[in-house]
Amino acid sequence: MSHDPQAGLFTDGAASEAQVQQQVEALREEIRRNDYQYYVLDAPSLPDSEYDKLFRQLQLLESDHPDLITPDSPTQRVGGAPVKAFDSVTHRVAMLSLNNAFEDDELLAFDKRARDALGGEIEYAVEPKFDGLAITLTYEHGVLTQGATRGDGYTGENVTSNLRTIRSIPTRLGIEDPPALLEVRGEVFMFKRDFEKLNRDQQAKGEKLFANPRNAAAGSLRQLDPSITATRPLTFFAYGLGATEGVPALASHSSAMDYLASLKLPVCKERAVVRGIEGLRNYYVSMGSRRDTLPFDIDGVVYKVNSIGQQLELGFVSRAPRWAIAHKFPAQEALTEVVSIEVQVGRTGAITPVARLKPVFVGGVTVTNATLHNQDEIDRKDVRVGDTVSVRRAGDVIPEVVGVVLERRPEGTQPYKLLECIHHACPVCGSHAIRLDGEAAVRCTGGLFCQAQRKQAILHFASRRAMDIEGLGEKLVDQLVDSSLVQNLADIYTKLNLETLSGLERMAEKSAQNLLDALQASKKTTLARFVYALGIRNVGEATAKDLARHFGKLEALQASHVEDLQQVSDVGPVVAESIVEFFAESHNREVIATLVAAGVSWEETAGKQTATGSLAGKTVVLTGTLPTMSREQARELIEQAGGKVSGSVSKKTHYVVAGTEAGSKLDKAQELGVTVLDEAGLLALLAE
Ligand code: IVH
Repeated sequence: MSHDPQAGLFTDGAASEAQVQQQVEALREEIRRNDYQYYVLDAPSLPDSEYDKLFRQLQLLESDHPDLITPDSPTQRVGGAPVKAFDSVTHRVAMLSLNNAFEDDELLAFDKRARDALGGEIEYAVEPKFDGLAITLTYEHGVLTQGATRGDGYTGENVTSNLRTIRSIPTRLGIEDPPALLEVRGEVFMFKRDFEKLNRDQQAKGEKLFANPRNAAAGSLRQLDPSITATRPLTFFAYGLGATEGVPALASHSSAMDYLASLKLPVCKERAVVRGIEGLRNYYVSMGSRRDTLPFDIDGVVYKVNSIGQQLELGFVSRAPRWAIAHKFPAQEALTEVVSIEVQVGRTGAITPVARLKPVFVGGVTVTNATLHNQDEIDRKDVRVGDTVSVRRAGDVIPEVVGVVLERRPEGTQPYKLLECIHHACPVCGSHAIRLDGEAAVRCTGGLFCQAQRKQAILHFASRRAMDIEGLGEKLVDQLVDSSLVQNLADIYTKLNLETLSGLERMAEKSAQNLLDALQASKKTTLARFVYALGIRNVGEATAKDLARHFGKLEALQASHVEDLQQVSDVGPVVAESIVEFFAESHNREVIATLVAAGVSWEETAGKQTATGSLAGKTVVLTGTLPTMSREQARELIEQAGGKVSGSVSKKTHYVVAGTEAGSKLDKAQELGVTVLDEAGLLALLAE
């Protein structure tokens, strides 16, 4: 049989039915192989255009020969007609649930019960607990014939047409001699990245946003019209078996998973086999630490006694097996109440609304505040004082309000309007507060007259990547500014001495001396750090480095015009304008002169230096988690090679280096056709 799906396709008008059938089968095989590569192995083997070509050829042939269409053909994934309601399906083998352990003693009790019943240390198969919804897939003689939700465990809903649209679910098993019956149990969910893109698309279309990937997956799977489900980026991992006939004997859960993987079903790579309670604990800690960087949400891990014989021995209690347990992570989302909405003024004057919350334990800490970002975000979620909201805190991220539980909204609440609430004035300095066209943020126009901006400007100036003044933290800056001891950046070098500092509350002589030493040490710096420390709007660390490299001397930078500035890579008209404006302000020039007079210094260079090295003149954006390097390490290597690391992707970006969990930057790169590299690709470039 010819394996080239394109062989003789349109050359022989009088192809026999048997030949056409052969071509159709070969095309399907090729498409399935690519689906598997792309959706299960995450390693695409064909360019999209080639894949589309194969797909169109198959569609053409099938439309000319409708009798050859089979339900497992790749063209039939979106074939089902909308339904009024789902039929119910009785599961051949019940779909049970898992008991949960939250605390270590519950885990100990689980392991002890198993050891008492079986004797000796237990071998466990361990895997992530996926945060989606459980489904069952029925394959008869290798062909997907039915898919259903778990329902109450005994009867579920027939969602076959919807499940067929999920490309990682094979409509036909990838083996020559498939078993007569195979029920596959597993979880339908969404990758975090796909979820974010879905919400962006929903927003662009003015449609409802989903609170989290789990809700998005559940809502998408339960669509009555499969053509809607087909547009949703659902995926699937298998984690167990239901009824089977003609399946080879499988002695353990892990070998059952290997078997499913050999049938080209998607099985999660993060699974392992461990021994005893120590093995369980280690797995829990290791998955917990990786939770935020995994590409999908997990709400815990699942432990299963590995031996199927031992599983049978242990059996079930009520609706859960005695041989398995879910060990849950602390929830990353919780419900609480918005007590009030207050605002904070940032360094650049942005006025950010913050929800004050009834304290709630989430993501391992007690949360009392959550950012609401800006007016657009408040409008989008319609967050009001008095609302019950869902708050999310993942990893080190600032807690945020994800959504409102509208059913619990008390009567008489009002939509929140930031500008009106602050009476169009900065709550700190009383200056006019405005919202510029095209900007999401409301800003205080007070500049450094505003104490809040002044404090933030000093904190930024002192921060590690700027002047790096150890000990000049938030509390001290509050005291210094509130007591009017420090009015501008220069004052920290000219007004602070043992005498003035010891006048402050809670300032011991030792810490005062330490601060003075730190101030002294910080004076020797680099032009790049100094420029960054000034806090010029739109000038981040990378731009400051570019400016320093290009101009070499502060005077040259200060005297530059918008046109000169745009010679610097990645400096566009907006950034250039902010720089010119900053230096045009006499107050800023005075502060700089005083800083220099106080001894702040750096080595000057000739300027207009062109970097040498394999990445000279190249702009690189880092996104996601790289397998072996931290972002800091990657940045250093790139800069050593003469490249520049930028925070956002534009047409001027040369490379995007993407790790796992790469988000919108990767999408943007693909949109703009920017070259995307992985860590290995970056290392290869650096080695050039
Ligand atoms: S095994 C008899 N393994 O957790 C054991 N379940 O309450 C059946 N889940 O509804 C479940 N990840 O949706 C199993 N690796 C995993 C899982 C998992 C997520 C869900 C599943 C089920 C619930 C159990």
